[in-house]
Amino acid sequence: MMPDYVLERFPLTAKLRDGTPVTLRPLGKRDDGKLQKFLLGVPEEERLFIKQPIFDRKLVQQWCKQADFDRNLPLLVLHGQKIIGLATLHQRFGGWKRHVGMITLLTHPEYRGRDVSKLLVGELIDIAKHCGLRRLEAEVNGERKIALQVLSQFGFSKLMHLEDYVLDMKAVTHDYVLLGLDLKTDEEYLGVGG
Ligand SMILES: CC(C)(COP(=O)(O)OP(=O)(O)OC[C@H]1O[C@@H](n2cnc3c(N)ncnc32)[C@H](O)[C@@H]1OP(=O)(O)O)[C@@H](O)C(=O)NCCC(=O)NCCS
Repeated sequence: MMPDYVLERFPLTAKLRDGTPVTLRPLGKRDDGKLQKFLLGVPEEERLFIKQPIFDRKLVQQWCKQADFDRNLPLLVLHGQKIIGLATLHQRFGGWKRHVGMITLLTHPEYRGRDVSKLLVGELIDIAKHCGLRRLEAEVNGERKIALQVLSQFGFSKLMHLEDYVLDMKAVTHDYVLLGLDLKTDEEYLGVGG
């Protein structure tokens, strides 16, 4: 679950490494145009892993209108009106991985190396703790060295590396890497403290 107070602190303002002022907030119902523009700005080889057809404006509209933050929280970084980063926190509501959240990361190519992901991952780790999650995981194409580095800086470690395990949209195989982070959730967040 996503406690209301977690979302109430948004929008947040921050500065990128070069001083660029940005805003962090969850995806809004009317962000479809901005979101589609952002997704189309992603290089094709990275887009090959995005399963949903992002050219379909109606589908993107649906993502925005029917967002269910309890299950899937898309957190944005905006520079003015432009989306420059997107990270999501997925939660499961049952089963043996209900304590494990999953995050995904994407930064607009023109804004990479300027701390966009660092801002997002830091926020999502904090949010995950407030949600009572105990672990986070991220699935990465083994060739995405930068993604591996960003996540390792936050303490994520490699749980599994399977060679030539996943297929991109052109049916080319890539290594699959599963990264994990132990959140060491404070007892107060779990509501079992004294
Ligand atoms: C991975 C990705 C999200 C990183 O986003 P970003 O906003 O550029 O990352 P940041 O600027 O916050 O960088 C954080 C750290 O990543 C590393 N990093 C970022 N860009 C780098 C580069 N070009 N070369 C080497 N390291 C780099 C650095 O360690 C950096 O921290 P430091 O400079 O303090 O050491 C971005 O490259 C991306 O969108 N890649 C494609 C999608 C993807 O691979 N997603 C991950 C799978 S879920």
